[in-house]
Amino acid sequence: MPATATAIRTAKRVDRFTYAIRNIVAEAKKVEATGKTVRYLNIGDPNQFGFLTPPHLIEAVVKAMRDGHNGYVPSPGIAPAREAAAADFASRGVNVSADRVLITSGTSEGIELALTGIVDEGEEVLVPSPTYPLYTAVLAKIGAQPAYYKTDHTNNWQPDLDHIKSLINAKTRALVVIDPNNPTGAIYPEATRRALIAVAEQHGLVILADEVYGDLGYEGTVPAMAALNNDAAIISYSSLSKAYLAPGWRAGWMAVGSSPRLDPALAAIKKLADGRLCSPGPMQYAVTAALTGDRSHQGHFRKELKARAELTTQRMNAIDGISCVAPRSAFYAMPKIELPPGKTDVDFVLGLLRAKGVLTVYGSGFGTALEDGFFRIVFLASLDELSAIYDDVANFTAEFRAS
Ligand SMILES: Cc1ncc(COP(=O)(O)O)c(C=O)c1O
Repeated sequence: MPATATAIRTAKRVDRFTYAIRNIVAEAKKVEATGKTVRYLNIGDPNQFGFLTPPHLIEAVVKAMRDGHNGYVPSPGIAPAREAAAADFASRGVNVSADRVLITSGTSEGIELALTGIVDEGEEVLVPSPTYPLYTAVLAKIGAQPAYYKTDHTNNWQPDLDHIKSLINAKTRALVVIDPNNPTGAIYPEATRRALIAVAEQHGLVILADEVYGDLGYEGTVPAMAALNNDAAIISYSSLSKAYLAPGWRAGWMAVGSSPRLDPALAAIKKLADGRLCSPGPMQYAVTAALTGDRSHQGHFRKELKARAELTTQRMNAIDGISCVAPRSAFYAMPKIELPPGKTDVDFVLGLLRAKGVLTVYGSGFGTALEDGFFRIVFLASLDELSAIYDDVANFTAEFRAS
């Protein structure tokens, strides 16, 4: 056979790489092709549900473009944005100088830069179960392994400290803490955060503190983890995507904590960042505008989210066979369905999609077991829409459990 007749072989690492939140859209498209309407409750994008980017951020980007800031910018980011991020961290009790801040293409790029810069092939990273799946996807790409630690739905999705300790070995390099949490909506109490820091410090692990929902606690801003111990090895992340309603701009920031033990990590991350030249320049002007300007949209957004969270919790818990821990932040809930024997969370989610055109994501896409029966709902739609969707979930659940 001539070489031109064979498909180009792909890398094995792609076989290990999964990202259920988007992968499942292929299934939704098949359902749409049959003429059915699909309601997408899979992606946490507030813009798609009418929560719009604050005008002063848009103006900052437009002005930057009009003023000719369309060239490459320094690879760690423009100075005003890095300074604004450092000042914002300072206002939250995190002491970090602007030269330890990088402006990234969303939190996502910061996560990838840190894991790539710190974790070698064959090493392990403690990742919560359930987790935001980018962590395990990046680990798969770099040939490292996740060590899933339990967060417990019977205990408001709090991390299980003893389980974390039992997983640590010579290969463990980092502890991922997603607080406020996607997919559970949990917030951790200060004592738990202190305990997590103590474990990490005792074992020389770096904490990756994912705080992309830090301003979306229903009762207000959630404190930054690094503020509890500025000497601990903590890398903190946030972005414009969620609390500033501009996810498509791919604009975020990361702070490599002030401990000198993190100096080599900072150098490694900056070296990697040089290779991608820079994150989008005009959007970095909006980072400055966001962190130094008016944030009044956040109060309104939090109120809207709280009402949706309450509706979701109440409606899910009213369904026979479903239980749901009340989220305390962000726009996600992770209900549990009692599965009939032999069925999985994927069966439930695909069944719900095909029968009712409601797209959620199975818990196993976030690292829970197939038979545990979790699924994640993004509850950004209006209360009326959600109410109608939850009627469909209730009807489908009754059929599914009787099958
Ligand atoms: C916990 C968590 N971290 C990171 C991200 C990525 O966000 P960004 O748009 O800033 O890359 C998300 C997006 O949903 C998330 O939920």
